[in-house]
Amino acid sequence: MKIVILGAGNMGGAIAKGLVRAGVPAADVVLTRASAGTPEDLAALGLRVSRDNAAEVREADVVFVAVKPWLVSQVLQPLAGALKAGATVLSVAAGVSLAELRQDLGRAKGVRLGRIMPNTAVALCCGVTAVAAETPEALEVAQGLVGRLGLTVVCGEDRFGAITALSGCGIAHALKFLRAGQEAGLEMGVPAKMAGEIFAQVMKGAAELVLHSGNHPEAEVDRVCTPGGLTIKGINAMERAGFTGAVVEGLLASLPEK
Ligand SMILES: NC(=O)c1ccc[n+]([C@@H]2O[C@H](COP(=O)([O-])OP(=O)(O)OC[C@H]3O[C@@H](n4cnc5c(N)ncnc54)[C@H](OP(=O)(O)O)[C@@H]3O)[C@@H](O)[C@H]2O)c1
Repeated sequence: MKIVILGAGNMGGAIAKGLVRAGVPAADVVLTRASAGTPEDLAALGLRVSRDNAAEVREADVVFVAVKPWLVSQVLQPLAGALKAGATVLSVAAGVSLAELRQDLGRAKGVRLGRIMPNTAVALCCGVTAVAAETPEALEVAQGLVGRLGLTVVCGEDRFGAITALSGCGIAHALKFLRAGQEAGLEMGVPAKMAGEIFAQVMKGAAELVLHSGNHPEAEVDRVCTPGGLTIKGINAMERAGFTGAVVEGLLASLPEK
């Protein structure tokens, strides 16, 4: 299966890395970009980067569109005639609907169409990717590929905005929490690298506890809180400083308008 990723930036690169990590041969994946040259991290995985979108998509079975949203029409429209029959186009562009993508592609040659919203953790196959598609056939192709990159959430396009905030932006919000923990560790005299590693593992462990058990997060919190103990004192201090409100406000501020 030949996979072409239009755009070799943060997201295109993350998808390519995730696919290779998931066992897709690097020789089956080609990325394209506007400038010349192959980024070092992609070259190290044996990935090829080209500047010729039309030549690359001609034999492609799956084409990921990973350019900035305002470039999608400009990039896709000239490719509509070059795509082979039965190829599947999966766009990651935030805020660009299936209807808009279909307008760019036209009906030519039965090209299948889907839309995905991944986060950058797909590079390590532990991402979250929302998936919506025009047809069951396109959905099957999308799930078959992005299902190898972590959790997939099949949903209507009306959910994409919330998932963009929760997972696409949320990964940076979570990293800010990690950085805050690291800063607290530093103030306690723990070296930055050690504090960062400890708190990252704490966050990973906390997430695993909830994902593994299916428990409500508060059930796991109560397990750790001894009555009158240090943990609940810390949690109540966090709340007095506006913790939950700040997280909710932050994620709501990251909700796309469209
Ligand atoms: N970053 C995220 O966390 C995230 C999450 C979810 C969805 N997305 C979506 O992913 C898309 C890409 O975002 P990004 O953050 O990866 O942007 P980015 O890092 O700026 O990468 C954009 C890539 O597109 C390439 N490009 C520009 N014009 C092109 C053309 N005509 N043909 C082929 N490639 C072209 C650029 O080439 P050069 O390398 O030469 O500049 C660059 O490699 C956006 O639509 C965004 O909404 C991003």
